[in-house]
Amino acid sequence: MDTFESIATKLDVREFGSEKVSDEIKAKVLEAARMTGTGLNTQHWRFIIVEDIANVKRLAQDSISGNWVAGANFAVIILTNPEHNFHMIDAGRVAQNMQLAAWNFGVASGLFTGIRDKELRRDFNIPKWLNPSIVLGFGYPARKLEGRKNRRPLETLVHRERFRD
Ligand SMILES: Cc1cc2nc3c(=O)[nH]c(=O)nc-3n(C[C@H](O)[C@H](O)[C@H](O)COP(=O)(O)O)c2cc1C
Repeated sequence: MDTFESIATKLDVREFGSEKVSDEIKAKVLEAARMTGTGLNTQHWRFIIVEDIANVKRLAQDSISGNWVAGANFAVIILTNPEHNFHMIDAGRVAQNMQLAAWNFGVASGLFTGIRDKELRRDFNIPKWLNPSIVLGFGYPARKLEGRKNRRPLETLVHRERFRD
């Protein structure tokens, strides 16, 4: 898929069908993560791939704003090192790259940031030095996604040369 088309058609999806995502696609998603740039090339992030359905459901229990992840085929917990003041930028970039890599194969995804920190750390053995920053849930979309994107017009967002009130 052309990069722009991929960005323009990708939605954050919270309802998934029952079809399984192949190991090849999962490998591509993880490779897309590995290929992502980080501040100072620190590569401080770590990823927990969650495929066991019981653990995917546990992720939902450990969330505040991601109950929908219970229906995902697999999930990835993005861990970043908060020692770096840019760690959340790195989390966002790697999340988007994983989502776009998946979407290239028609696999949709959503994310949540509302995490029950103590419970998630306990359940997934997350070390103190890493912050659970984003959780991504992946799967084939439950329904066709066309035409759902809701964005402000460009002229309300873009300022030329200098900011104008
Ligand atoms: C920083 C950030 C945090 C988000 N946190 C959550 C979340 O906690 N739960 C959730 O269901 N979606 C979350 N989302 C998804 C947004 O709601 C979604 O990107 C937005 O509604 C646009 O969706 P669309 O691309 O499908 O139009 C988050 C997105 C971003 C970028």
